[in-house]
Parts: sequence; structure tokens; C-alpha cells
Amino acid sequence: MQKLRTIKGTHDILPWESHKWQKIESVLREVFAAYAYKEVRTPVFEYTALFARGVGEFSDIVSKEMYTFEDKGGESLTLRPELTASVARSFIQHNYQQEAPLHKLWYLGPLFRQERPQAGRQRQFHQFGIEVIGSPHPEADAEVIELACRVYRALGLRNWELHINSIGSIEARKNYMDILRAALEPHKDGLCDTCRERFHGNILRLFDCKNPECGRIMKAHAPAILDHLSPEDTEHFNALRNYLDAVGIPYVIDPALVRGLDYYTRTTFEIKGTALGAQDALCGGGRYDLLIRDLDGPDTPAVGFAAGMERLILAMDAEGLFEQESDGLDLYIAPMDSRCLEKVLPLVTALREKGYRVQLELLRRSVKAMLRDANRQQVQWVAVVGEQELEKRSMNLKNLRENDQLETAWDEIGAVLDRTSKRKPI
Ligand code: HAM
Repeated sequence: MQKLRTIKGTHDILPWESHKWQKIESVLREVFAAYAYKEVRTPVFEYTALFARGVGEFSDIVSKEMYTFEDKGGESLTLRPELTASVARSFIQHNYQQEAPLHKLWYLGPLFRQERPQAGRQRQFHQFGIEVIGSPHPEADAEVIELACRVYRALGLRNWELHINSIGSIEARKNYMDILRAALEPHKDGLCDTCRERFHGNILRLFDCKNPECGRIMKAHAPAILDHLSPEDTEHFNALRNYLDAVGIPYVIDPALVRGLDYYTRTTFEIKGTALGAQDALCGGGRYDLLIRDLDGPDTPAVGFAAGMERLILAMDAEGLFEQESDGLDLYIAPMDSRCLEKVLPLVTALREKGYRVQLELLRRSVKAMLRDANRQQVQWVAVVGEQELEKRSMNLKNLRENDQLETAWDEIGAVLDRTSKRKPI
């Protein structure tokens, strides 16, 4: 019989790893609050048409990677492969524009793409991200990029680099694609089969090809898109650069950064983990002024980014940025028998109510085994409760970190724990 296990490309977040997720999530919440973003949560599955129309039918995500299925009513549904289209759908469906002219939103959640799993690439993965909906101005692009950088700085990550580009408005890009096709025509035979297939379709995808020979041809012969923007596109890009310079954010201008989703206009950017392997994009985003209109919503400009949680954890692990896990337990109580347990339970409950972190022995182990475990869990204080302790309504609190002992009355325990506790009443 087949062993039960996770589906290929999906992972459990194990109890001894979840503290990493919680640390990142708490920093994210602080950063989002400081920039005045509001959280939006959308369902994990949507009608397939949303992604087909939103992300683009010919993108890799839609053409190869979606988990699409028919439900019992015959509807085609898809596990969301990204969140920008879902947020745009939510914006349109709930008429956000009637509430305010500008919406600054953040999200965090699981996504699904049927890609070949490897380090930093899963089939279920998690993204955090933001979308600023309503502003066409470069200061919105700058805020989005600055916020992305702020997250990595706030987490203490050192090995990353910001890449920016502009792929212009639709008209400029169409024009550029013709110029690109003409420039590459003499070198077409050297390209891989996939690039030759894409040559007459979305030729920009050639920039994403990992084949070294295609990379060489592109580097040698592809004209830079930045030289073929409209004056308004160039002005927008230059203003963005000025704002980034003003806040001291270094960047690399990367004319090959066209991104694999079809909805982008003008700004595109990525933050690359410079110590990561092949899957080095920590985050990616850009401006998408036509998406909401293309999904039958009001003509509304927008810009945003999304970032992989798993890749961030890989990068932080590589830089040793997670401290040794500690649950910050205040007290470990070991009753000697069931009578002692019954008598001490109200005290345990009262301490927990006040927010002290109290571990109660549930395995009926010997004192020696219990002490060994309390040490492993890095508990501050331990108390064994027997008949004597019940009679005197006191406890011999043993400080495991400092190796001393303190005879303490039950109603004084809180005061002793307060010396070291980080409690918050619940
Ligand atoms: P994306 O570039 O497809 O953009 O994904 C953003 C980030 O998600 C990547 O940089 C990477 O960190 C992470 N990621 C993507 N696929 C995987 C995977 N299979 N396994 C692990 N991590 C992965 C978007 O999704 C756009 N919606 C971003 C955006 C928001 N643009 C504007 N607003």
C-alpha cells in the first residue's frame, strides 16, 4: 500500500520550524502598518477565467502550471497561482473605488503552481505582497519598491540586490517587439526550440530562457527596451529612479527584466538573493495599469509586488538569522500523583490566565526524566508538587537557568515569575 505523505512539491511547516514563519510574519505586520497598508484575504480558488484573462493565456503560469479542475457542477476552477488577479477581482467585485480613491493592500497566503520542484521552488508555496491601486504616479512605484527593500532590511538580510526596468506602455512595447524580432532574425537558427516557437508570439519571453546559447544571443543582439520607450514612459522611469536615489536605495538597471506575467506596463522589478541558487528571485513586481480595465473593471492604474516566503527562509537560514528557538516557558509543574494534579490544576489555570507560560507534566514521568525535558525546553522555573507542597500551599521553585531554589507561597509565584517572564495576560 502506498505510504501516506505530502504531495510532491508541497511541505509541512514543522512545529520546530514554525517560529521562523512567525518571526517573519510579525516583522511584516509592523512594516505594513508603518506604511499604512490594509490586509485583504481572498479565497484560495477562483474561476479559471480570472487567471486566463488576468495573467495571460500564453504565460507559463496559465499555459502549463495551473491546478485546474471541474467541480461537480461542471465549473472550471483553479487553485490560485498568484494573487494580483484575485485582488483585482476583489477590487472590481466590491467597488473599492467608491470607498476611497487609493487602496494600499497587503496579503499573505498559499499559492499553487505545477512546476518542477527544486530548492526554492514548490508546488504549494507562500507569498506576501502588496498592491497599491489607484495611483498612476512614479511615487507609488517608489513606495512599493522601498517597502519591499524595507522588509529585507528589517529582517537583517544582507545578500540581495534590487533590479529595475521599464517595459513601457503597450504601444511602446509593441513597437519594441518588432524591433527585437528584426534584430534577432539573423540569429534565429541558434535559438532553442522553445524560443523559436515564441519568436512570433510574445518574443519578450526569450529574455527568460535559461539556455546558455539563447542567453548569449540575447546579450549580444537584443536592443535594450529602455532605448525604445515613449517620452512619458522615460519620464516615469527617471522619476522613479530619482525617488529611489533620494531614499538611498541602490539598484541595478536590468533591461532584460521583462517578467513572466502578461499584465505589466512600465515599471518591473525584482529583488534577487545573491547567495541563493537557480531560484534566486526573492520578490518580483511592477506596474499593471491595464489589468483592472481588462477584467471589466474601471480604468484604474496599480502597482505591487509579491515575495516568496520559502525563498526568504532559505536566504535567512543561509545568513544564520534565526535565533535558537525558545518557547520562553516560565514554569514547568510536575505533580507527583493524580491527587496532587487535581489540587494544583486551579493554580496552573490561574497562572496561564495571567499569561504565564506554564507547562504541565502530562506523561507521568519520573522527576529525573521530567527535569531532563524541562532543561531541553529551556524552562526558567520547575516545581515538583507532592503532598508536602499541597499542605503548605507553597512550592520549591527551582531556577534551571541559574541553579538556585526558592521556597515560594502559591500566591507569591506570579511575583517570582515576573522577574523573568515576558507574559501578556490572555
Ligand atoms: P512572481 O514573480 O510569479 O510574481 O512571484 C513572486 C515571487 O513568488 C517570486 O519572486 C518567488 O519569490 C515566489 N515564487 C514564485 N513561484 C514560486 C514557487 N514555485 N516556489 C516558491 N516560490 C515561488 C507574482 O506572483 C506577481 N503576482 C507579483 C506582483 C504583485 N506583481 C504585481 N503585484
